Amino acid sequence: MHTGIQIRPIGPVALNFLLRMYNRFDPLGAALGLPPIRTEARRQWICEALTRGANVAAFIPAGDVVGHCFLSQASPDSAELAIFVHQDHRRQGAATSLIKAALALAAASGIRRVWSTTSPDNRPAVHLLFRCGFRPAAMALEEIEMEIDLRESWPLDKWCTTIGKRDLSVACEPAVR
Ligand SMILES: CC(C)(COP(=O)(O)OP(=O)(O)OC[C@H]1O[C@@H](n2cnc3c(N)ncnc32)[C@H](O)[C@@H]1OP(=O)(O)O)[C@@H](O)C(=O)NCCC(=O)NCCS
Repeated sequence: MHTGIQIRPIGPVALNFLLRMYNRFDPLGAALGLPPIRTEARRQWICEALTRGANVAAFIPAGDVVGHCFLSQASPDSAELAIFVHQDHRRQGAATSLIKAALALAAASGIRRVWSTTSPDNRPAVHLLFRCGFRPAAMALEEIEMEIDLRESWPLDKWCTTIGKRDLSVACEPAVR
């Protein structure tokens, strides 16, 4: 099934699109405090995401953003990934496509290790990351860190040539279910 969702890289000009999505996000604060509950903190968090590293968004045909994945670069070859899909558009493959696109951008810019931290009881997130090739790296009572080594686990050649920086719509085909 094709949902019409398109995955595209975004930059600071997309601030209002993201504000609209996150202002309707429910529940806020459920993913280790994210997205921030307070309006001003949420705006600040989005602004930081848009300036710290690669950002990709899922657009529906009407033009709204319904998903957002971003990398916060920690060193020249490592970055942290965060992923959010609006509650009305889940289980359609948007997060999977967003992560693939973000990892392709990461690989193209020389990043080799990408990790993501979530709560161990956030089953959708843990399953999603596992499905995208991430593996547990560290575990504490309230957090699990999952990582992917792009040199070993990611078909870089395939994704770097398939997904260009300007148009990632090719990545939006949901997996066959
Ligand atoms: C986690 C999240 C991003 C998944 O988004 P999504 O677009 O629904 O994910 P996809 O449709 O790409 O699903 C991919 C896989 O993730 C797993 N998954 C997604 N939702 C799930 C759920 N509710 N229960 C169990 N597994 C789930 C499944 O393995 C799924 O594959 P399948 O549908 O073939 O079984 C979304 O639920 C979300 O935004 N949650 C709140 C924010 C959050 O917790 N972010 C992660 C921390 S940074």
